[in-house]
Amino acid sequence: MNKIYFGDNLAILKTLKDESIDLIYIDPPFNTGKTQSRTRIRTIRDKNGDRNGFQGNKYKTIELGTKAYKDSFDFETEGLFPPEIVRAYKTIAPHSSIYFLEEFLRPRLIEAYRLLKPHGSLYFHIDYREVHYCKILLDQIFGRDCFRNEIIWAYDYGGRARSRWPAKHDNILYYVKDPRNYIFDSSKIDREDYMAPGLVGPEKATRGKLPTDTWWWSYIGKKGMKISDTWWMTIVGTNSKGRYGYPTQKPIGLINRIIQASSFPGQVVLDFFAGTGTVGESCIINNRNFILIDNNYQALEVMARRFSGFETIQWIGFDPTPFQYIKNTLLEERAKQNSEGTDEYSPEFKMLVTVSSNLQEE
Ligand SMILES: C[S@@+](CC[C@H](N)C(=O)[O-])C[C@H]1O[C@@H](n2cnc3c(N)ncnc32)[C@H](O)[C@@H]1O
Repeated sequence: MNKIYFGDNLAILKTLKDESIDLIYIDPPFNTGKTQSRTRIRTIRDKNGDRNGFQGNKYKTIELGTKAYKDSFDFETEGLFPPEIVRAYKTIAPHSSIYFLEEFLRPRLIEAYRLLKPHGSLYFHIDYREVHYCKILLDQIFGRDCFRNEIIWAYDYGGRARSRWPAKHDNILYYVKDPRNYIFDSSKIDREDYMAPGLVGPEKATRGKLPTDTWWWSYIGKKGMKISDTWWMTIVGTNSKGRYGYPTQKPIGLINRIIQASSFPGQVVLDFFAGTGTVGESCIINNRNFILIDNNYQALEVMARRFSGFETIQWIGFDPTPFQYIKNTLLEERAKQNSEGTDEYSPEFKMLVTVSSNLQEE
């Protein structure tokens, strides 16, 4: 049975049984101190519109709605400290990493460790501002020898800073509970179709090739080194079909990769900063069970829409029915999207990469 909880994750984690979870992925707020928001728009043809389109057509922009959450912690409303301490903290260091780690993350990560089965793994998604502090915290809780990787998720999105190198990556820290006994098989990750199946043998064409972000290994001649700790993947585009209008939604391909390599079908995956429920969708696609937690009503609303029609979900503290009037044809939608090919590379570029990789391999 899959479960989605509405509420503060610490209290809910405490109610879950010891060693009951196979894999945890979390993507906590990055503590930037900003309110993260995303406005969804649609454009319609209108001769007085504000945007120029193809063949001189004009388009009008219509705002469909805004979703937001605060990317920092309000120590006052979280009730963690008496008011005089809160005032002192806010004056000295309004968004300091120390409080983020000590007061917010540490107790939640201790719970995460307790909940993992002996063969379990944790993937912790963060950014360059907090990753070093978080690594130290996780080393303290899991043990340094349980650290496996720092995965770099590289993308081309965001501002072009002029005073420093523009940051174009997130960091994912990967830990296991027992370094001698854990689930990991990178050969299980999704393969992609060959753009030119005729150029490869039928066996290869059926198996597909490893993802596009690995092609350059064969280009530089490192035969056998296919997938690395640097994952090149585009973000969920503002108007792409799989976008739920919620800030910081992570690409399903990223989560699929984690779930496919670090768990088996039928196992339980936990995400206690669930947002739009990307982990839940990946579990449905990959035949895993899930437990999701979020304390933002708008996140629950999004998940209710995203999972309408999936009857194997138990909702706790939230009634999804008002948002589930349209049956979600998620899986059919995704199959269609795959056949349309929605990634950022042009067919010509993919063809070039495929042919050059194959030539190198041959
Ligand atoms: C970065 S977003 C997660 C996005 C998600 N990975 C996705 O793909 O949609 C972080 C989420 O953590 C939630 N959150 C923050 N503090 C929380 C808490 N104490 N308990 C439960 N959820 C919390 C926020 O509401 C937000 O939805």
